[in-house]
Amino acid sequence: MITLTNADKAQILEKKSLLLNILDVDGVPLPIVSKEMWNKIYNFQAKSDDLILATYPKSGTTWMQEILDMIQNDGDVAKCKRANSLERHPFLEISFPHKEKYGVDIAIEMPSPQILKTHLPSHLIPPSIWKQKCKVIYVARNAKDCLVSYYHFHRMTSLLPDPQSWEEFLIVFLTPAVAYGSWYDHVKGWWDAKDKHHILYVFYEDIKKNPKCTIHKVLEFLEKTLPEESINKIVYHTSFDVMKENPMANQTSLPSYIYDDTISKFLRKGMPADWKNHFTVTMNEKFDEHYKKKMAGTTLTFCTEI
Ligand code: A3P
Repeated sequence: MITLTNADKAQILEKKSLLLNILDVDGVPLPIVSKEMWNKIYNFQAKSDDLILATYPKSGTTWMQEILDMIQNDGDVAKCKRANSLERHPFLEISFPHKEKYGVDIAIEMPSPQILKTHLPSHLIPPSIWKQKCKVIYVARNAKDCLVSYYHFHRMTSLLPDPQSWEEFLIVFLTPAVAYGSWYDHVKGWWDAKDKHHILYVFYEDIKKNPKCTIHKVLEFLEKTLPEESINKIVYHTSFDVMKENPMANQTSLPSYIYDDTISKFLRKGMPADWKNHFTVTMNEKFDEHYKKKMAGTTLTFCTEI
């Protein structure tokens, strides 16, 4: 637990308000401090061996990150515990108040080959990523569980505004007035992008159902092979129960003024269908109606339980 002085608190509040100063980029609310910073992010020069992990928030980014790190390190658990997951792979467009550097600056300095995380929608990705033909892994999670997870994340982090009540947050999510904007636009945008670029599109629910099968798909996409023993190790090390106890993955090493896990854990439930514990029958009917309209015409489908 970190004890804060009043000066520290004032500084955090100042930084928090900067983060809450969401920048509208092409109609998408992004948690970026300034237009200048956005220009730097958008003009980031990717290298061809950069591997991009893209997600809408709360879709299993940290989970896939751990899987990719284990793959990149041939299943060596000790190597994957070298640092907190936030330190191991830069978050392109995000800054943390306890860190001096912005994600993009860390990415610029990171030795190759690096894994770069982002929540950016496909149309706002730095063009150099496409130009360099970087491989991208996109993880999508069903909207209802994503929404529930995002709600609890807003409760526990000072990086995002107070979600108010669950009922109010549901409206904010559908408006959409949350950071990174519409879940619908995000998942559909990346779904369409996969036909034009080097993208592996995977689903959170599929990883949960059969992690080994997803790991094999990722290996194939990365043109890498690993012995069965290493794959089994990856399945075990990246399971929810093991990651939850791993301080390098469960985000408990972050100061509690950023992630307060006495309010809600970062690795919270780790299960599809937790939405059933949050939605009333009426909420669910309204949500389904909205969903049907928004998803009309796409071939993209989701499982909301397994
Ligand atoms: P819940 O809040 O539903 O538990 P992100 O990393 O994109 O922020 O996503 C966080 C969500 O992924 C949280 O969902 C978290 O528990 C879940 N998650 C992280 N690691 C996981 C794992 N190994 N297995 C299942 N879910 C995991």
